[in-house]
This record gives sequence, structure tokens and C-alpha cells, in this order.
Amino acid sequence: MQKDGYVVCRDGISEGIYERLPDRYKDCPVRDTKGALILPGLVDLHIHAPQYTFRGLGMDLELLEWLNEHTFPEEAKYADIEYAKEAYGRFVEKLKYSATTRACIFGTIHVPATEYLMDLLEQSGLCTMVGKVNMDRNAPDPLTEQSADKSAYDTVEWVKDCLKRYRKTKPILTPRFIPTCTDALMENLKKIQMRYGLPVQSHLSENVSEVGWVQELCPGSEFYGDAYDRFGLFGADTRTVMAHCVYSGVQERRRMKENGVFAAHCPESNMNLSSGIAPVRAFLDEGIPTGLGSDVAGGSTEDLFAAMAHAIQASKLRWRLVDDTLKPLTAAESFYLATKGGGEFFGRVGSLEEGYEFDAVVIDDSAVSDREKAEISERLERLIYLSSESKITGKFAAGEEIFWR
Ligand code: GUN
Ligand code: FE
Repeated sequence: MQKDGYVVCRDGISEGIYERLPDRYKDCPVRDTKGALILPGLVDLHIHAPQYTFRGLGMDLELLEWLNEHTFPEEAKYADIEYAKEAYGRFVEKLKYSATTRACIFGTIHVPATEYLMDLLEQSGLCTMVGKVNMDRNAPDPLTEQSADKSAYDTVEWVKDCLKRYRKTKPILTPRFIPTCTDALMENLKKIQMRYGLPVQSHLSENVSEVGWVQELCPGSEFYGDAYDRFGLFGADTRTVMAHCVYSGVQERRRMKENGVFAAHCPESNMNLSSGIAPVRAFLDEGIPTGLGSDVAGGSTEDLFAAMAHAIQASKLRWRLVDDTLKPLTAAESFYLATKGGGEFFGRVGSLEEGYEFDAVVIDDSAVSDREKAEISERLERLIYLSSESKITGKFAAGEEIFWR
């Protein structure tokens, strides 16, 4: 943390933070942020673009009922490209002007709609990984792909398109979760993963009835994560992020640590869908790479400052009510999760330190803190709780300006 300093970017990479601008930079263009906070861009490790349309609805349901009553009917609408254009237009506009610079995003099973989403994200300048969702069982007809082979074929065509078309928008394999993916589909996805060296995102150990269902579907698996690992879709040579991990026990966490599987902690979603409270302190203590996810629309907002506050609050409840050995998160720790913690999934991302990709947000917090008197750490803590009262005035991702106002 540096009061009234300079952060230097060259060719998309940070060259560090300085109290005074070193002479060697004297001819570089300078932007004056006028007392605003300059923070690393925030990283959303788990968000569903097509669910943006029904945020805040069905929050009296648990996961599996919520999927059937709200999520699947909504996602089916993205077969209609005109519907997708309108909905994704609104989603990307919102994400563009948020504090998020990086995100792992779920689309739907539909290739044209997912590519349209990726076109918009590419134009926005954000750095994202986006998944065409795979599901070939246990979903309503319009959302169940014809066969494992057809799902795999569509996925390969989509990946080939993406590799030609985008620079900042990368494909990520997205088997929705074990209940909607047959073994044959998972085998196909592993082949595609290896052929193109792709990362993977999915859901893990989120909700009590879901975990029970996976045990019934895969009686041979040692735990939920093992059902992915059997197909080589759980870290190790495959960069993997798993959302939730609320019920990840000792064995599952050990495998996540060994395989370097990232946990995307989504506290608001876990409360809304009555899923539970993830053992984030254990993830940190055990060295499991961890970041935050908004999980819209399980979570109602894409605002990752809200996710930071929720992560702190949830950890306090877990500590007080469930396990007093798991100390609550501090504000600094939750900020770490939303920046460097999740940023690592993208490489050297999530910090303004020298050598990191230059992702930055400029935030005018004058309505929240007295900028003359308050310490930077105090301003940051208040921003976590009062982000809606502050203004984001500029944003850069990988050194490119997204907006400035
Ligand atoms: N598990 C499978 N699909 C979903 C989804 O869309 N949202 C959440 N929160 N969990 C899931
Ligand atoms: Fe999710």
C-alpha cells in the first residue's frame, strides 16, 4: 500500500509502485487519479452470464429445485439468438463498468449464443475465460444435448472458432456438474482438454442433496471430487477451478491441494440457496488455491466487494457456530481472495507488484472515507462494505484501458 504514489505500466505489465516517479519514466504519459484509490482489478472465479436476467428470484429454494424451476427454463431461452443478444448485452455492459477485470464465466449449451457473449466480452477489453456448458443427462429436453458425441463435436467446433477469433477471451471446458454429464461425455471432454490444453471449470460439493445425488450416481467414487478426477478433470495437468466446495472434507481437500485445484468461494450463493458455509480458512491453511466467485444468479450481485463482505461474514458464522478452530477471515484476507488468490488462475494476475499483468481499477471513495485523514487500509475496509456509495472512475485489464471517466 502506498499513499500518493505512482504505479507504472509498460506493455501490459506492471513495473512496480513508487513514491516518486523514477527519472527513467519522466517522458511517459501520466494519469492523475486525484486522490482516488488504485486497486488491482478484481477476479470473479465463478459467474453465470445467462443467469443475470433472473437475479434475486427463487431464493426460497435450494439448489436442485432452483435449477429446475428457474435456471434451466431461463437458460433454454438462449437457443434464441435474439434473446441472447439482448440479455448478454446487458450483462457485459454491467461487468464492464464493475470493478472486475477477470472472470471465469459459464454460458449455456448453445454455441451461437456463447460466441455472441464472447464477441461482446472481447470488445469490452475484459480478460475472461468463457465456457460453452456441457450437459447430456438429467436436464429438461431443450437443455439436454443429443448425445455425448454431439456435445463433444459442438465443443470442438466452438473451441476451434474461439482460438481463431479472440485474444482476451479464452475457452474453458465446462461440464456443468457430475449429475448432468454422462461418463461418455466426461471421457470425450478429457480428450478435448488434452488436444487443446484447455482449463476446466465446474461445480463441487455445493449442497447437501446434490452431494448425496453424486454419491448415488457414482457409487465407486471416494468423494465428489474423485468423480471428476477419475476422468482427469480435476487439476494436476489440467488447470481446474471448482465452485463452492462447501462440503469438501479432509480427503477431498487433500486431493485439491495435491492436484492444485482452485476453489471458487461463493458465499452469497451459498447463503441464498441454503447450501452452507465453505471452510475457507481450511483452504487457506492447507494451501489450496482459492478465490472468490459471485455465482450470479445463485448470488444476486456481480459486485465482488459485496462478495468480500459476505466471505468475512460467513466465516464469522462458521467460526462462531460450527468450528471455533477456523478463525474468521480478515478484510485483508478477503481482499487477497478477490485479487491475488483468484488471479493466480490467470497467471501473474491480481496485484500491482512488478511483473504482474497490469489490471487496475480506480475508485473514487470520497463519499465513504475522509481521504486526507484515513489510512489506506481503513479506506479499503470501508470500501468492502460500502462499495455502492463509491464510484469506479477507471479500469485497465492487461494494460489496456477499459474505460476512464
Ligand atoms: N450446479 C449446477 N449448476 C449450477 C448453477 O447454475 N448454479 C449453481 N450455483 N450451482 C450449480
Ligand atoms: Fe454456479
